[in-house]
Amino acid sequence: MTTPVLYLFGSAAPPVFDIADVVTDAQNRGFDICLGLTPTAAHWLAPQLTELARLTGHPVRSEYKMPGTPDVWPKADVIAVAPATFNTVNAWALGLTHDFVIGVVAEGIGKQIPTVTMPCVNAAYVQHRQFERSISELREMGVRVLYGEDGFQPNQPGQGKPSEYPWHLVLDAVQEITRG
Ligand SMILES: Cc1cc2nc3c(=O)[nH]c(=O)nc-3n(C[C@H](O)[C@H](O)[C@H](O)COP(=O)(O)O)c2cc1C
Repeated sequence: MTTPVLYLFGSAAPPVFDIADVVTDAQNRGFDICLGLTPTAAHWLAPQLTELARLTGHPVRSEYKMPGTPDVWPKADVIAVAPATFNTVNAWALGLTHDFVIGVVAEGIGKQIPTVTMPCVNAAYVQHRQFERSISELREMGVRVLYGEDGFQPNQPGQGKPSEYPWHLVLDAVQEITRG
């Protein structure tokens, strides 16, 4: 069997600083990783981007390609969006594809690429009424959202512990999907 390709997409919440370890964990689980970042996450990780490209063996992408240029990544077998910020969850659910990674996962729904996401949001953000709507919309469109009882549980503002973000749930779900 060929190595399954995982598109791992991170947005700008503090657990994204641990993405190199997550890449290694996913590689050890047998995945070929293509790493995508929102522009803000790419800005946060700027000092690590060269090493992340070396680690994954693919360019790290945060921008759309130029028209007429070839795709630099192999096709995805599965996509994971984590950590998914309040902004990223809402933009994706609403179909606002200004950013490359949102464009890929918005199209991914129609292309039926299995996709998992785990938000990283605090208890204040989730009171904004759009958030629950976005979670419901994504679930109804077939995205596996790891949020609530079996996933990420919101922390109080300012009390998030990035080291406690349950990354293993994302990789377990991805593995479960590819094993069918
Ligand atoms: C130190 C810091 C921590 C943040 N943590 C979070 C977070 O846990 N969840 C969240 O939704 N936004 C968080 N934000 C705000 C996002 O970074 C901001 O909304 C950004 O525009 C998200 O962009 P993106 O979704 O395109 O990555 C944080 C911002 C800063 C500066």
